[in-house]
Amino acid sequence: MKKVLFSIFIGLSMLSHANAFEGDAKAGKTKAASCAACHGANGIGIMDAYPNIAGQHADYIVKQLKAFKANSDRSDPVMSPMAAALSEQDMADVAAYFASFGLDGSAPAVTEEASSDSSATSAAPVARAQAKAVYVADASSGKALYEHGDEARGITACIDCHGKEGNSDVLINPNLSSQHPEYIEKQLKAFKSDTRHNASMNQVSVNLTNEDIANLGAYFKDPSAVGDVKASAAKIVVRSFTGDVAEGKTKAATCAACHGADGNALIAMYPSLAGQGEAYLVKQITNFKSGARKDPVMSGMVAALSADDIQNISAYFASQTLKPAVTETSARGKQLYMSGDAKAGITACVACHSINGKGIDKAGFPAVAGQSATYLKSQLMKFRTKERNNDNNSMMQNIAIKLTKKDADALSSYMASLK
Ligand code: HEC
Ligand code: HEC
Ligand code: HEC
Ligand code: HEC
Repeated sequence: MKKVLFSIFIGLSMLSHANAFEGDAKAGKTKAASCAACHGANGIGIMDAYPNIAGQHADYIVKQLKAFKANSDRSDPVMSPMAAALSEQDMADVAAYFASFGLDGSAPAVTEEASSDSSATSAAPVARAQAKAVYVADASSGKALYEHGDEARGITACIDCHGKEGNSDVLINPNLSSQHPEYIEKQLKAFKSDTRHNASMNQVSVNLTNEDIANLGAYFKDPSAVGDVKASAAKIVVRSFTGDVAEGKTKAATCAACHGADGNALIAMYPSLAGQGEAYLVKQITNFKSGARKDPVMSGMVAALSADDIQNISAYFASQTLKPAVTETSARGKQLYMSGDAKAGITACVACHSINGKGIDKAGFPAVAGQSATYLKSQLMKFRTKERNNDNNSMMQNIAIKLTKKDADALSSYMASLK
């Protein structure tokens, strides 16, 4: 687990520097000549095995090129040597160039350069060969999974991160719309088998079946083709917990004074525990008990709990429903949360705490949505001064140290306002 978290952190810390070089699309056009053999002059891959990169977010393209070059989170016999030859400035330039096209390879928004020169834009999107799959993929099932996920099977809705019809607003989350099905399927299998590393995607893909993957590929090929099909949500949702919820409820009586009987705290300085991830709660209670996380009140409260008690209490609070108070949001907080701040080296919180603030419990990332702003701010400040230092590989301390008090205020308001 530690190793996994460490590689996540390295990946993300690289990400915060993705913008260090300003890309120049004009310079990129010349440099992209060597890419055209496979990705097309306008970023539309000439074969199914070559992904479309037209209209992809520049930040995302740079991040992938760096990963290929480092042979770290992503490695490919074709792309790794290609990327090895590129400087950071080259990467920024070719990324700016390919990002300037439409997702379908259509001409960039008219600039003087583009309108006087038609060589890049004359390459029409190449017709794609039909994949000769054995299973007949069903784009509308792909759409249903994309939009709703399948909670019973532990599959997160993709739309939360990749946006409506595969057009994402978050710059580090790639656009998927109009991508080759064969490429999509290869990537989902790579994430699933952990040969391509990304905290969110490894977690999301682990429960996908081959049929799911084929259906998703069929959906992305042309999301608008099933635009009118109403995607239905998977029906029965069974949430399961490792601990015994009923046992936990009895043991949790002593916690009610501060955290509320149902885990909704009534006083802002106490965190709500309702709906928080079970694994995260177990880690925190265990950390309070061992002294790895220090709090004079909490260490006394949990000193007498056994490992079973801790698991059961955590299951109980995780099973409860959070009732967030209505609070004011913050535009600055949203911007920082979604995109970070490349100049200040602040990693986007969305990468770990997820788009809706619900976190990714299996990776150890807590929910922050609807939590009391007072409590959230207090924790950011404690990470900043290292008073709280129980985060693996100091991943929160390294981020919090770069936040100003104003940033922390804005972020706390935004997170508290998430439902
Ligand atoms: C010989 C063919 C070839 C050439 C030339 C080539 N690529 Fe690639 N590229 C590929 C293949 C194959 C993949 C998919 C690798 C995989 O499956 O992970 C890829 C993947 C990518 C990706 C990741 C796309 C995504 O959606 O994640 C980017 C970005 C990229 N290439 C950029 C470039 C750039 C920039 C150049 C020129 C400097 C270039 N490529 C030259 C074959 C090529
Ligand atoms: C918590 C956010 C999140 C969720 C939910 C999510 N993704 Fe992703 N996805 C990402 C990120 C971030 C990347 C880029 C990974 C990287 O940098 O290598 C990505 C990459 C991908 C890629 C590779 C794209 C490329 O161009 O190489 C595919 C395919 C994909 N996701 C499909 C899905 C599908 C299908 C689902 C739903 C079953 C899903 N994603 C759910 C965040 C998410
Ligand atoms: C007298 C008030 C009080 C009581 C009773 C109490 N707590 Fe707490 N709890 C706190 C405070 C204050 C914090 C925040 C500590 C900090 O700032 O790090 C906290 C934090 C926590 C956290 C960390 C939450 C997070 O989001 O990281 C957990 C988990 C927790 N308490 C569990 C319990 C359990 C289980 C019990 C009962 C056995 C309990 N608490 C009883 C006051 C209390
Ligand atoms: C690399 C992943 C990662 C990123 C990026 C990240 N966090 Fe965290 N965050 C964590 C982890 C892991 C924890 C829990 C640490 C522990 O085990 O105690 C955490 C804990 C927190 C907590 C305390 C929650 C609680 O209930 O006590 C807050 C608040 C928080 N993060 C806010 C943020 C904000 C704001 C950002 C963006 C500026 C951010 N995080 C970015 C991984 C991350």
